[in-house]
Amino acid sequence: MIVTIDGPAGAGKSSIARQVADRLAFDFLDTGAMYRAVTLGCLRAGVDFDDVDALEQFAGCLELRWDDQRIFLNGEDVSEEIRQPEVSAAIGRIADLLPLRARLSEMQRQVAEGRDIVTEGRDQGAEVFPHAECKVFLTASPQTRARRRQLQLSETGVDLSIDEILDAQNRRDLEDTTRDVGRLRAADDAIVVNTDCLSSDEVLQAVLEIIHGVLESRTSKTAS
Ligand code: C5P
Repeated sequence: MIVTIDGPAGAGKSSIARQVADRLAFDFLDTGAMYRAVTLGCLRAGVDFDDVDALEQFAGCLELRWDDQRIFLNGEDVSEEIRQPEVSAAIGRIADLLPLRARLSEMQRQVAEGRDIVTEGRDQGAEVFPHAECKVFLTASPQTRARRRQLQLSETGVDLSIDEILDAQNRRDLEDTTRDVGRLRAADDAIVVNTDCLSSDEVLQAVLEIIHGVLESRTSKTAS
């Protein structure tokens, strides 16, 4: 069974998707980590981000591996380093590269092949896994998302104002919702969960209920 969880930055997808996978004993795939690792590779190599051909060529040579919930770039575990703000700021150019999107989408399908998996990103339900049995779209207002991000950052010792966070978030939202392929959107058959007034526990329960509903209807179809 494939469960897709999509939504904008800061909607809480990552932690919810991980917890859902844990509860159901499903595998977990963080597709943003793949785009982040490629971005990190290009930044480290000093590739000119305004040169699309150079980016495409270099990105195509990078070796990526998703293994046990860690992301490896040319064999090195970069799961922590990819969270740096420099990576988030530069990622839009990388996520716009069509050949790279095609390659990463194919890798994502290979990871999911024959498994029960929760996969998280922007385009999972609408483009990468259009036939997934269960699609969830998590969302929240820009203010709520920025406040949550501010809290997360302050826990790691980074203090940014809400305006600074909103600025970067708005930029990324615009990039994510306007690209031609792989843009952030809810699949027509996705269930949208607005998390504005929900605690993370309530979001987890809401998503688990959706999945249990799908599992039950699957069981009753098999029985009849
Ligand atoms: O989810 P996360 O914030 O790590 O994603 C980082 C960026 O990677 C997104 O803002 C988006 O540009 C890109 N991305 C994407 N398609 C995905 C997952 C992430 O384009 N499936």
